[in-house]
Amino acid sequence: MQGSESIVVGEYIVVKALENGVTIIGLTRGKDTKFHHSEKLDKGEVMVLQFTEHTSAIKIRGRAQVFTKLGGVESGS
Ligand code: TRP
Repeated sequence: MQGSESIVVGEYIVVKALENGVTIIGLTRGKDTKFHHSEKLDKGEVMVLQFTEHTSAIKIRGRAQVFTKLGGVESGS
């Protein structure tokens, strides 16, 4: 793979909202860490996502189940 594609992480992660108004916030990759995107999920909604050349971390506000290759974790409890 070449250039920016090579830093896209192949694995997907899954976030399932356990309450209304769960927010997933995308944080920028690189020297600065800034919010660049936010996504609201209502109870029961599921988002499947991937890290990219723009996003190296996410922050989750509210109660949600998070599934990654490292295992599962619950936020907001
Ligand atoms: N901009 C940071 C980076 O690309 C974002 C980040 C990734 C981060 N992991 C982190 C910020 C852990 C704080 C803690 O590295």
